[in-house]
Amino acid sequence: MWRSLRGALRCLGVKVCRRSALLVILLWLASWLFLNGLVFVHRNMFSDFCTDHKSKEILQRVCAEYQQGVLTGDLCEDLCVAGRVEYKRCLYYENGKKVMAASWRGVPIVLKSKLENFSSYEALTLLEYQDAAGGAGGEEELSPLDVVFYATLEIKNSLGLETGANLTLPRLWGQKLKENERTYSRAELASLWALLQQEEYTFLRVLQDLTHHVAKILGSCGHFYAVEYLAAGHAWDQYIFSLDELMLSSSPNPWSGQEKIINARDMVPRVALSFLEMVEHFENDFSHSLHLCDIKPENFAIRKDLTVVAIDVDMAFFEPKMRDILEQNCTSDNDCNFFDCISKCDKAKNRCGPKRKNSNLQVICEKIFRPWFSPTLLGAKAGLPLQVALQRAVQECAEIDGGEDAQRTRAVREQLKDLLVELSQEDTGHQGEGQEHKMRRVHTALHF
Ligand SMILES: *[C@@H]1O[C@H](CO)[C@@H](O)[C@H](O)[C@H]1NC(C)=O
Ligand SMILES: *[C@@H]1O[C@H](CO)[C@@H](O)[C@H](O)[C@H]1NC(C)=O
Ligand SMILES: *[C@@H]1O[C@H](CO)[C@@H](O)[C@H](O)[C@H]1NC(C)=O
Repeated sequence: MWRSLRGALRCLGVKVCRRSALLVILLWLASWLFLNGLVFVHRNMFSDFCTDHKSKEILQRVCAEYQQGVLTGDLCEDLCVAGRVEYKRCLYYENGKKVMAASWRGVPIVLKSKLENFSSYEALTLLEYQDAAGGAGGEEELSPLDVVFYATLEIKNSLGLETGANLTLPRLWGQKLKENERTYSRAELASLWALLQQEEYTFLRVLQDLTHHVAKILGSCGHFYAVEYLAAGHAWDQYIFSLDELMLSSSPNPWSGQEKIINARDMVPRVALSFLEMVEHFENDFSHSLHLCDIKPENFAIRKDLTVVAIDVDMAFFEPKMRDILEQNCTSDNDCNFFDCISKCDKAKNRCGPKRKNSNLQVICEKIFRPWFSPTLLGAKAGLPLQVALQRAVQECAEIDGGEDAQRTRAVREQLKDLLVELSQEDTGHQGEGQEHKMRRVHTALHF
């Protein structure tokens, strides 16, 4: 094929063989596409077992182990005995990581585990000690204090909080375990241990009671945990969040009341306000600020009440871990970029500074707000004073330098917030237009 292609190219200049050259190039392109297609199909068929059959097999194994008393959890009874968990479909499977959609007592949930088999998780060494100690009697139980101690260690490790700073965060959860003045069975401990080895679970678990901007954990069975089902924003079809879907699902009859339509119009500024609230939360309300290093629509979802939720937390780090990640050797500032988290290169030491230079807010303004409130998307409204002010505020926020004084940063943030509040109130005020038109406007306003 290569030789004929080269021959065809050589005679490209000659008029007679121009047509055959084109033909060969087309043929070559076609076979290239075909081969790529084959590779794609192959990859999907042989390395990606995201099938219903395999999912059900995995759940059957979980239930068999539940019945043997190996693992347990508050979801197990409903999943394995009462039949109140209905499997829907496989969402993701790779290298053992399993994600499924299901419904639990009618509530849509996502079932997740980093590894498909319970036995693939590291066993709790504490349990092995007991085995070695032999029949000392009553070895079925451990003191809650031991459990708290080990769980806290594991959490600290997993979140990178072991660097001697204040640990109010894990302690909070430890307190919860402790209040439960009771002993834990082997199955409970083994299950807890398998869950704690999954960074995402640990992360979400620790943040559950502290913020509503992360997905809720609804229950667990063995190494599988259930989180609320939320549709992510997606980039591939160019709409950041499927608000239409959200609107339809929040009302049994979307075509009836006016309120629904008004809600749809309000959504953009209200979702933006929730983003701002989330940023403030993550910066100030935990014992360490939380950095989001991968900010894109797919990593967020919105609940029906328009709360923004971070649903992919693989790239979220607390301050101590963030410093570890950023502090690298460097020759220029470019070496100090870790996705959306960047710092400066200290050329004297050839080390990146440990302190992050930009902020969550800045990246959200740049990557999410700027497209939302850009003049091209606002259309006829773009010239109105409020919209112009908002565009300016978003631009200022996207460009704010991390080294600048906190006062200015706060001022920019406050101004942005005020404008968004004003805009959402203004939108509630006007109700004159036809509803079809309004729906379309909201949709295009969210267009990238
Ligand atoms: C999980 O367990 C099943 C049955 O024991 C086994 O066939 C499968 O290979 C295991 N998967 C992994 C990833 O270990
Ligand atoms: C930890 O918190 C206490 C009070 O909450 C404070 O007095 C102490 O300075 C803090 N220690 C560190 C290392 O931040
Ligand atoms: C970084 O630089 C230091 C000294 O400048 C060197 O000892 C170290 O090996 C370097 N680390 C890496 C990962 O290149």
